[in-house]
Amino acid sequence: MRMITMTDALWTHILALRGSAQGAAAEELDPAVALYAPIAAAPRRFVLAQVGQSLDGRVATPAGDARDISCAEGIAHLHRCRALVEAVIVGVRTVLMDDPRLSVRAVKGPNPVRVIIDCRAELTGAESLFHDGGAPVLVMRAEDAPERPCKAEIIRLPKSGNGLDPAAILDVLSARGLNRVLVEGGARTIARFMEAGLVDRLHVSIAPLIIGSGPPGIALSPIERLSSARRPAASLFLLGEDILFDCDLRAPDRSFAGQGVGQGAGQSEEIGVADHVPASGLADRCQTEVEPCPDVA
Ligand SMILES: NC(=O)c1ccc[n+]([C@@H]2O[C@H](COP(=O)([O-])OP(=O)(O)OC[C@H]3O[C@@H](n4cnc5c(N)ncnc54)[C@H](OP(=O)(O)O)[C@@H]3O)[C@@H](O)[C@H]2O)c1
Repeated sequence: MRMITMTDALWTHILALRGSAQGAAAEELDPAVALYAPIAAAPRRFVLAQVGQSLDGRVATPAGDARDISCAEGIAHLHRCRALVEAVIVGVRTVLMDDPRLSVRAVKGPNPVRVIIDCRAELTGAESLFHDGGAPVLVMRAEDAPERPCKAEIIRLPKSGNGLDPAAILDVLSARGLNRVLVEGGARTIARFMEAGLVDRLHVSIAPLIIGSGPPGIALSPIERLSSARRPAASLFLLGEDILFDCDLRAPDRSFAGQGVGQGAGQSEEIGVADHVPASGLADRCQTEVEPCPDVA
Protein backbone atom coordinates (compact mmCIF):
# COMPACT_ATOMS: atom_id res chain seq x y z
CA MET A 1 0.00 0.00 0.00
CA ARG A 2 1.45 3.33 -1.02
CA MET A 3 0.35 6.65 0.36
CA ILE A 4 -0.50 9.43 -2.07
CA THR A 5 1.08 12.66 -0.93
CA MET A 6 0.51 15.30 -3.56
CA THR A 7 2.49 18.52 -3.83
CA ASP A 8 1.96 21.39 -6.25
CA ALA A 9 5.21 20.54 -8.06
CA LEU A 10 4.26 16.88 -8.43
CA TRP A 11 0.79 17.70 -9.68
CA THR A 12 2.20 20.18 -12.19
CA HIS A 13 4.54 17.44 -13.42
CA ILE A 14 1.67 14.95 -13.74
CA LEU A 15 -0.55 17.45 -15.56
CA ALA A 16 2.29 18.04 -18.03
CA LEU A 17 2.23 14.33 -18.89
CA ARG A 18 -1.25 14.68 -20.40
CA GLY A 19 -1.17 13.29 -23.90
CA SER A 20 2.61 12.81 -23.81
CA ALA A 21 2.53 9.00 -24.30
CA GLN A 22 5.47 8.73 -21.91
CA GLY A 23 5.54 5.32 -20.29
CA ALA A 24 5.96 5.01 -16.55
CA ALA A 25 7.83 2.32 -14.64
CA ALA A 26 5.43 2.10 -11.73
CA GLU A 27 7.74 0.52 -9.19
CA GLU A 28 10.40 3.21 -9.55
CA LEU A 29 8.13 6.17 -9.26
CA ASP A 30 6.59 8.34 -6.66
CA PRO A 31 3.24 6.68 -5.83
CA ALA A 32 1.33 9.63 -7.26
CA VAL A 33 3.16 9.32 -10.59
CA ALA A 34 2.61 5.56 -10.59
CA LEU A 35 -1.11 6.11 -10.05
CA TYR A 36 -1.75 9.02 -12.39
CA ALA A 37 0.83 8.75 -15.19
CA PRO A 38 -0.93 5.79 -16.88
CA ILE A 39 -4.04 7.95 -17.18
CA ALA A 40 -2.31 11.18 -18.18
CA ALA A 41 0.09 9.62 -20.66
CA ALA A 42 -2.16 6.97 -22.18
CA PRO A 43 -0.91 6.62 -25.77
CA ARG A 44 -4.31 5.69 -27.23
CA ARG A 45 -7.97 5.52 -26.30
CA PHE A 46 -8.08 4.96 -22.57
CA VAL A 47 -11.11 4.38 -20.37
CA LEU A 48 -10.96 4.77 -16.61
CA ALA A 49 -13.98 3.84 -14.50
CA GLN A 50 -14.10 5.16 -10.97
CA VAL A 51 -16.29 4.31 -8.00
CA GLY A 52 -16.22 5.88 -4.54
CA GLN A 53 -17.99 3.48 -2.20
CA SER A 54 -18.56 2.55 1.44
CA LEU A 55 -17.19 -0.54 3.20
CA ASP A 56 -20.41 -2.32 2.29
CA GLY A 57 -20.15 -1.40 -1.37
CA ARG A 58 -22.76 1.38 -1.50
CA VAL A 59 -22.43 4.62 -3.42
CA ALA A 60 -25.43 6.44 -1.97
CA THR A 61 -28.25 6.05 0.53
CA PRO A 62 -31.57 4.69 -0.78
CA ALA A 63 -32.77 8.32 -0.81
CA GLY A 64 -29.88 9.24 -3.11
CA ASP A 65 -27.54 11.08 -0.72
CA ALA A 66 -24.09 10.47 -2.22
CA ARG A 67 -22.19 13.62 -1.38
CA ASP A 68 -19.77 12.73 1.40
CA ILE A 69 -18.77 9.10 0.94
CA SER A 70 -15.15 9.80 0.01
CA CYS A 71 -12.86 11.81 2.30
CA ALA A 72 -11.36 15.11 1.12
CA GLU A 73 -8.33 13.35 -0.37
CA GLY A 74 -10.65 10.87 -2.10
CA ILE A 75 -12.57 13.77 -3.64
CA ALA A 76 -9.30 15.40 -4.69
CA HIS A 77 -8.42 12.09 -6.36
CA LEU A 78 -11.66 12.12 -8.34
CA HIS A 79 -11.00 15.70 -9.43
CA ARG A 80 -7.44 14.79 -10.44
CA CYS A 81 -8.83 12.00 -12.59
CA ARG A 82 -11.24 14.45 -14.21
CA ALA A 83 -8.38 16.85 -14.89
CA LEU A 84 -6.33 14.14 -16.61
CA VAL A 85 -9.03 12.95 -19.01
CA GLU A 86 -10.63 14.68 -21.95
CA ALA A 87 -14.21 13.58 -21.31
CA VAL A 88 -16.22 12.40 -18.32
CA ILE A 89 -19.26 10.18 -18.83
CA VAL A 90 -22.18 9.66 -16.46
CA GLY A 91 -25.54 7.95 -16.77
CA VAL A 92 -28.74 9.93 -16.72
CA ARG A 93 -29.73 8.75 -13.24
CA THR A 94 -26.58 10.21 -11.75
CA VAL A 95 -27.50 13.58 -13.22
CA LEU A 96 -31.11 13.29 -12.05
CA MET A 97 -30.11 12.17 -8.54
CA ASP A 98 -26.98 14.26 -7.89
CA ASP A 99 -27.25 17.25 -10.25
CA PRO A 100 -23.43 17.14 -10.55
CA ARG A 101 -21.16 19.75 -12.14
CA LEU A 102 -18.52 17.19 -13.22
CA SER A 103 -15.87 19.92 -13.13
CA VAL A 104 -12.39 20.16 -11.65
CA ARG A 105 -12.60 22.20 -8.48
CA ALA A 106 -10.60 20.46 -5.76
CA VAL A 107 -7.33 20.69 -7.72
CA LYS A 108 -5.90 22.85 -10.49
CA GLY A 109 -6.49 21.51 -13.98
CA PRO A 110 -8.62 21.64 -17.09
CA ASN A 111 -12.27 20.63 -17.09
CA PRO A 112 -13.22 17.64 -19.24
CA VAL A 113 -16.06 17.67 -21.74
CA ARG A 114 -19.16 16.36 -19.98
CA VAL A 115 -21.03 13.46 -21.57
CA ILE A 116 -24.42 12.23 -20.39
CA ILE A 117 -25.99 9.00 -21.56
CA ASP A 118 -29.66 9.91 -21.74
CA CYS A 119 -30.98 7.22 -24.04
CA ARG A 120 -34.67 8.00 -23.55
CA ALA A 121 -34.44 11.80 -23.21
CA GLU A 122 -35.26 11.87 -19.50
CA LEU A 123 -33.38 15.08 -18.71
CA THR A 124 -35.60 18.14 -18.47
CA GLY A 125 -33.01 20.68 -19.58
CA ALA A 126 -33.17 22.42 -16.19
CA GLU A 127 -30.22 20.45 -14.75
CA SER A 128 -27.38 22.63 -13.45
CA LEU A 129 -24.68 21.48 -15.83
CA PHE A 130 -26.61 22.94 -18.76
CA HIS A 131 -26.55 26.37 -17.16
CA ASP A 132 -23.29 26.66 -15.20
CA GLY A 133 -21.16 28.06 -18.04
CA GLY A 134 -18.71 25.19 -17.62
CA ALA A 135 -17.18 22.74 -20.09
CA PRO A 136 -19.24 21.65 -23.11
CA VAL A 137 -21.93 19.04 -22.56
CA LEU A 138 -22.71 16.24 -25.01
CA VAL A 139 -25.95 14.32 -24.54
CA MET A 140 -26.16 10.85 -26.06
CA ARG A 141 -29.66 9.85 -27.03
CA ALA A 142 -31.24 7.03 -29.00
CA GLU A 143 -32.38 7.86 -32.52
CA ASP A 144 -35.98 7.25 -31.52
CA ALA A 145 -35.87 9.22 -28.24
CA PRO A 146 -38.38 12.06 -27.95
CA GLU A 147 -37.36 15.58 -28.90
CA ARG A 148 -36.50 17.45 -25.72
CA PRO A 149 -34.24 20.47 -26.10
CA CYS A 150 -31.44 21.29 -23.69
CA LYS A 151 -28.47 23.66 -23.80
CA ALA A 152 -26.05 21.01 -25.09
CA GLU A 153 -25.07 19.19 -28.24
CA ILE A 154 -27.42 16.25 -28.65
CA ILE A 155 -25.97 13.22 -30.43
CA ARG A 156 -28.34 10.54 -31.61
CA LEU A 157 -27.12 6.98 -31.87
CA PRO A 158 -28.86 3.82 -33.05
CA LYS A 159 -30.07 1.52 -30.31
CA SER A 160 -28.08 -1.67 -29.98
CA GLY A 161 -29.45 -4.45 -27.78
CA ASN A 162 -30.83 -2.81 -24.67
CA GLY A 163 -29.36 0.63 -25.14
CA LEU A 164 -26.59 2.61 -26.76
CA ASP A 165 -23.45 0.73 -27.73
CA PRO A 166 -20.67 1.99 -25.40
CA ALA A 167 -18.14 1.48 -28.22
CA ALA A 168 -20.20 3.76 -30.47
CA ILE A 169 -20.19 6.38 -27.71
CA LEU A 170 -16.40 6.19 -27.49
CA ASP A 171 -16.15 6.43 -31.29
CA VAL A 172 -18.16 9.65 -31.22
CA LEU A 173 -15.79 11.03 -28.60
CA SER A 174 -12.67 9.89 -30.48
CA ALA A 175 -13.93 11.64 -33.60
CA ARG A 176 -13.85 14.83 -31.51
CA GLY A 177 -10.33 14.13 -30.26
CA LEU A 178 -11.57 12.97 -26.86
CA ASN A 179 -9.67 9.75 -26.20
CA ARG A 180 -8.95 9.71 -22.49
CA VAL A 181 -12.29 9.09 -20.85
CA LEU A 182 -13.52 8.77 -17.27
CA VAL A 183 -16.71 6.78 -16.72
CA GLU A 184 -17.78 8.19 -13.39
CA GLY A 185 -20.95 6.25 -12.75
CA GLY A 186 -23.39 5.17 -11.77
CA ALA A 187 -23.28 1.44 -11.43
CA ARG A 188 -25.31 0.65 -14.52
CA THR A 189 -23.29 2.92 -16.76
CA ILE A 190 -19.99 1.50 -15.55
CA ALA A 191 -21.41 -2.00 -16.03
CA ARG A 192 -22.21 -1.34 -19.68
CA PHE A 193 -18.63 -0.26 -20.39
CA MET A 194 -17.11 -3.10 -18.37
CA GLU A 195 -19.27 -5.76 -19.95
CA ALA A 196 -18.31 -4.44 -23.37
CA GLY A 197 -14.65 -4.95 -22.38
CA LEU A 198 -13.90 -1.25 -22.84
CA VAL A 199 -12.53 -0.31 -19.41
CA ASP A 200 -8.75 -0.18 -19.11
CA ARG A 201 -8.52 0.79 -15.45
CA LEU A 202 -11.02 0.55 -12.63
CA HIS A 203 -10.53 2.69 -9.56
CA VAL A 204 -12.52 1.55 -6.54
CA SER A 205 -12.04 3.87 -3.60
CA ILE A 206 -13.33 2.45 -0.33
CA ALA A 207 -14.23 4.77 2.52
CA PRO A 208 -14.45 3.59 6.15
CA LEU A 209 -18.19 4.09 6.26
CA ILE A 210 -21.08 1.62 6.48
CA ILE A 211 -24.27 2.81 4.80
CA GLY A 212 -26.16 -0.48 5.10
CA SER A 213 -28.39 -0.17 2.05
CA GLY A 214 -28.52 1.80 -1.16
CA PRO A 215 -27.22 1.44 -4.71
CA PRO A 216 -24.03 -0.56 -5.39
CA GLY A 217 -20.92 0.83 -7.06
CA ILE A 218 -20.90 -1.67 -9.91
CA ALA A 219 -23.80 -3.86 -11.05
CA LEU A 220 -22.64 -6.51 -13.52
CA SER A 221 -24.69 -9.40 -14.88
CA PRO A 222 -25.01 -12.21 -12.29
CA ILE A 223 -22.53 -15.09 -12.23
CA GLU A 224 -23.10 -18.44 -10.54
CA ARG A 225 -19.66 -19.34 -9.28
CA LEU A 226 -16.86 -17.30 -7.77
CA SER A 227 -14.48 -19.00 -10.16
CA SER A 228 -16.12 -16.81 -12.82
CA ALA A 229 -15.51 -13.60 -10.87
CA ARG A 230 -12.93 -11.19 -12.17
CA ARG A 231 -9.84 -10.90 -9.98
CA PRO A 232 -8.01 -7.98 -11.53
CA ALA A 233 -4.37 -7.17 -10.92
CA ALA A 234 -4.50 -4.32 -8.45
CA SER A 235 -2.27 -1.79 -6.75
CA LEU A 236 -3.33 -0.28 -3.46
CA PHE A 237 -3.03 3.37 -2.53
CA LEU A 238 -3.94 5.26 0.60
CA LEU A 239 -5.93 8.44 -0.09
CA GLY A 240 -6.37 10.12 3.29
CA GLU A 241 -8.56 7.64 5.13
CA ASP A 242 -9.83 5.94 1.95
CA ILE A 243 -8.17 2.96 0.29
CA LEU A 244 -7.98 2.95 -3.48
CA PHE A 245 -7.80 -0.23 -5.53
CA ASP A 246 -6.25 0.68 -8.89
CA CYS A 247 -7.28 -2.30 -11.02
CA ASP A 248 -5.63 -2.95 -14.36
CA LEU A 249 -8.35 -4.66 -16.38
CA ARG A 250 -5.99 -5.16 -19.33
CA ALA A 251 -3.48 -7.20 -17.34
CA PRO A 252 -4.09 -10.92 -16.78
CA ASP A 253 -6.42 -11.53 -13.84
CA ARG A 254 -4.97 -12.99 -10.66
CA SER A 255 -5.49 -16.69 -10.11
CA PHE A 256 -8.59 -18.16 -8.57
CA ALA A 257 -7.26 -19.56 -5.26
CA GLY A 258 -6.50 -23.26 -5.47
CA GLN A 259 -6.91 -23.49 -9.22
CA GLY A 260 -3.84 -21.65 -10.43
CA VAL A 261 -5.61 -20.51 -13.57
CA GLY A 262 -6.06 -16.82 -14.34
CA GLN A 263 -9.66 -16.06 -15.24
CA GLY A 264 -10.10 -14.89 -18.76
CA ALA A 265 -6.40 -14.82 -19.50
CA GLY A 266 -5.64 -18.54 -19.54
CA GLN A 267 -2.63 -18.04 -17.28
CA SER A 268 -1.27 -21.16 -15.66
CA GLU A 269 0.60 -19.54 -12.82
CA GLU A 270 -0.22 -17.05 -10.16
CA ILE A 271 0.04 -13.44 -11.31
CA GLY A 272 1.38 -10.97 -8.75
CA VAL A 273 -0.43 -7.69 -8.33
CA ALA A 274 1.40 -4.62 -9.51
CA ASP A 275 2.66 -4.02 -5.98
CA HIS A 276 4.63 -7.26 -6.46
CA VAL A 277 2.56 -9.09 -3.90
CA PRO A 278 1.35 -12.54 -4.87
CA ALA A 279 -2.42 -12.77 -4.58
CA SER A 280 -2.17 -15.02 -1.53
CA GLY A 281 0.05 -12.51 0.29
CA LEU A 282 -2.03 -9.43 -0.36
CA ALA A 283 -4.11 -9.62 2.82
CA ASP A 284 -1.05 -10.17 5.02
CA ARG A 285 0.75 -7.27 3.50
CA CYS A 286 -2.26 -5.00 3.88
CA GLN A 287 -2.36 -5.83 7.58
CA THR A 288 1.32 -5.38 8.22
CA GLU A 289 2.46 -2.61 5.94
CA VAL A 290 -0.32 -0.05 5.93
CA GLU A 291 1.10 3.22 7.13
CA PRO A 292 -0.98 4.53 10.01
CA CYS A 293 -3.50 7.13 8.92
CA PRO A 294 -4.15 9.83 11.51
CA ASP A 295 -7.88 9.86 10.88
CA VAL A 296 -8.44 6.15 11.32
CA ALA A 297 -8.22 4.35 14.59
N1 LIG B 1 -20.04 7.35 -5.37
C1 LIG B 1 -19.82 7.33 -6.67
O1 LIG B 1 -18.69 7.10 -7.11
C2 LIG B 1 -20.94 7.61 -7.60
C3 LIG B 1 -20.68 8.06 -8.88
C4 LIG B 1 -21.74 8.27 -9.73
C5 LIG B 1 -23.03 8.01 -9.31
N2 LIG B 1 -23.25 7.60 -8.06
C6 LIG B 1 -24.62 7.28 -7.60
O2 LIG B 1 -25.13 6.27 -8.45
C7 LIG B 1 -26.55 6.38 -8.48
C8 LIG B 1 -26.98 6.31 -9.93
O3 LIG B 1 -26.48 5.11 -10.48
P1 LIG B 1 -27.38 4.23 -11.43
O4 LIG B 1 -26.63 3.00 -11.75
O5 LIG B 1 -28.75 4.12 -10.83
O6 LIG B 1 -27.59 5.16 -12.68
P2 LIG B 1 -26.62 5.70 -13.85
O7 LIG B 1 -25.64 4.66 -14.25
O8 LIG B 1 -26.15 7.05 -13.51
O9 LIG B 1 -27.70 5.87 -14.99
C9 LIG B 1 -28.42 4.75 -15.38
C10 LIG B 1 -29.31 5.12 -16.52
O10 LIG B 1 -28.50 5.38 -17.68
C11 LIG B 1 -28.86 4.45 -18.65
N3 LIG B 1 -27.70 4.01 -19.40
C12 LIG B 1 -26.43 3.86 -18.98
N4 LIG B 1 -25.66 3.42 -19.97
C13 LIG B 1 -26.46 3.28 -21.04
C14 LIG B 1 -26.26 2.85 -22.36
N5 LIG B 1 -25.05 2.48 -22.81
N6 LIG B 1 -27.33 2.82 -23.18
C15 LIG B 1 -28.55 3.18 -22.74
N7 LIG B 1 -28.81 3.60 -21.51
C16 LIG B 1 -27.77 3.64 -20.67
C17 LIG B 1 -29.52 3.30 -17.93
O11 LIG B 1 -30.36 2.62 -18.79
P3 LIG B 1 -31.08 1.25 -18.33
O12 LIG B 1 -32.20 1.68 -17.44
O13 LIG B 1 -31.55 0.66 -19.61
O14 LIG B 1 -30.05 0.43 -17.62
C18 LIG B 1 -30.26 4.01 -16.84
O15 LIG B 1 -31.48 4.55 -17.29
C19 LIG B 1 -26.89 7.70 -7.84
O16 LIG B 1 -27.43 7.45 -6.55
C20 LIG B 1 -25.57 8.41 -7.73
O17 LIG B 1 -25.52 9.23 -6.57
C21 LIG B 1 -22.24 7.39 -7.18
